[in-house]
Amino acid sequence: MSKFYVTTPIYYTNDVPHIGHAYTTVAADVMARYHRLCGDDVFFLTGVDEHGQKLERAAAEKGMSEQEYCDNISARFMSLWEKMDISNDYFIRTTSERHKAAAQKFFRAVYDAGDVYKAYYEGWYCVPCERFYKENELLDENICPIHERPAEWIKEENYFFRLSKYQDRLLKLIEENPDFIQPESRRNEVLSMIRSGLEDRSISRSSVKWGVPVPIDPDGGVLYVWVDALSNYISSIGYGDDPDTLARYWPADIHLLAKDILVFHGIIWPALLMSANLPLPKQIFGHGWLTKDGKKISKTIGNVIDPSELADEFGTDAVRYFFMREFTFGSDGDFSRESFIHRINSDLANDLGNLLNRTLALIKQNFGDTIPQPEGEPEGHDQELIDTALKILPRLKPHIDKLAFSDALDVIWDLVRRANKYLDESAPWRLAKDPSKKDRVAAILYNCVEALRFLSIFVSPFMPGASKRIVEQIGLDGQAAAQTFADLEWGKMPSGVAMGKVEPIFPRIEVEKKQEVKPSTSEITIDDFKKVDLRVAEVLSAEAVEGTDKLLSLTVDAGSGPRTIVAGVAEYYSPEDLVGKKVILVANLKPAKVRGVESQGMLLAAVGKKDLSILSIDKDMPSGTKVR
Ligand code: MSP
Repeated sequence: MSKFYVTTPIYYTNDVPHIGHAYTTVAADVMARYHRLCGDDVFFLTGVDEHGQKLERAAAEKGMSEQEYCDNISARFMSLWEKMDISNDYFIRTTSERHKAAAQKFFRAVYDAGDVYKAYYEGWYCVPCERFYKENELLDENICPIHERPAEWIKEENYFFRLSKYQDRLLKLIEENPDFIQPESRRNEVLSMIRSGLEDRSISRSSVKWGVPVPIDPDGGVLYVWVDALSNYISSIGYGDDPDTLARYWPADIHLLAKDILVFHGIIWPALLMSANLPLPKQIFGHGWLTKDGKKISKTIGNVIDPSELADEFGTDAVRYFFMREFTFGSDGDFSRESFIHRINSDLANDLGNLLNRTLALIKQNFGDTIPQPEGEPEGHDQELIDTALKILPRLKPHIDKLAFSDALDVIWDLVRRANKYLDESAPWRLAKDPSKKDRVAAILYNCVEALRFLSIFVSPFMPGASKRIVEQIGLDGQAAAQTFADLEWGKMPSGVAMGKVEPIFPRIEVEKKQEVKPSTSEITIDDFKKVDLRVAEVLSAEAVEGTDKLLSLTVDAGSGPRTIVAGVAEYYSPEDLVGKKVILVANLKPAKVRGVESQGMLLAAVGKKDLSILSIDKDMPSGTKVR
């Protein structure tokens, strides 16, 4: 039996889960589920990266302990993965004792190899990236190219890893193993980086407290969060405590990640493993970014889309399908609601959903609730349908092996399209008018059910929920989980079984008519606008206004000391969400009493029909700064 060990990156717990994280995790889940269908011994790992300076600061800003902060966000990731039908075998948390011990053991192995020394680090650091930057890697004014925020200058005495020592071995490895880093464009990026010279890297942070203590020096600070994080791939399978499991799964077959963290996985991680004398992963795949209006989706940029909300609105399978079908996995892809709805309606509601509905409705009309018995030898277009079905798996494999998910789904859809066409060409509804053709009608509809059973297996890595519902509706309840690629034998579908409850699995999404955006008031002059005194104000405290669940009473400071305002935001923000936030205040609004509280100003917010978003500033500016 082959084994298959696949990982996602472990996600930062100072972030909120968004569709970018879901994108990688769904892709890894597809790989894991596909390999389980092949009968492989699969280990699928995901988890969270809970240490580092960014987290330390985020927790302090919220007035929480670091652990409390991590516990909250980790729970959000875990429940999201449950909702997204993610079938991970283990969820690693880097704050677990098990991981910390293994990370220390790994650091020590690198130290024992003679690859660690102490020196001063002085340079730029982007806290949201948790990475050191060279000046020429930053944009003008030392702005981080990923987060579009200024990097910070740091100077500290740290432990360094002799990365430079591994330059030649790394180069040879990547040159001789074209599959080690994929896709090709990413491999070339890494190659040119190595060729331009590798410098030793700081692998500890003396000024950071929230992390795994450096094991060789009680005053040495903590492991650089990336060294801590990368070691999750081995700590999760027993590097510290379970050599059998480690030997069973390591080296990983594939580390999946996006291009932003390729250097860590394609250069630093293999070099550290070489130093610790451990085998190297077989493949590192750096996929593209999901973007919104061309910008990477990220909390720091402020354009996150919550996958959980999408799944609530459209269903988990639709979201998973869209991620895997719409974009070329290696390249960036722009997310839009319009393309989402279009894709779901055309591929799922029209093609796959329709095949299921039509087939089952025709069976109901002609054979009651029972799957009919196929009669007679193949005739008409039967053989073409059977051939198409039997050829899907060998055509699918090369695409999955290359993580070309969209192409893989396109191959599967050849069967969806062929089966719909088969139904049209065979027109059983016409034959059914002639009682002497009943056997032929039975054969045609049986073939369609058999195609649907094949499809339930093919789509199950992508849409496990839909696969299960197809299986239930064609009457194979309970056997869904048991199906594997070994069940792709034409004619294995039992006849005579009772159909399950028939319901559309992908209802069509009705597209809302775009609201006409009319200017809401007549024109004003710049002088009119200047009458409004808008200021940056910090929310000092917040509490609910008694007797209503819509209002919050906020104490804010717009540069001239605390004042109270009442804001109708309680349905969208809790008081804790707002404390410490910098908002935009209409500072010269005539005070008015709201529910007995005098409100001395008003904050600005975007107000939709079902949601509300408070205007804020994307850089820290002092309270009282004028807004115009
Ligand atoms: N904690 C590190 C990873 C350590 S792994 C040893 C980290 N975390 S992260 O929360 O920032 O997640 C980065 C990963 O999330 C990316 O590599 C990618 O897998 C996924 N994505 C985050 N935003 C993304 C997009 N906008 N688009 C696609 N994937 C994205 O880096």
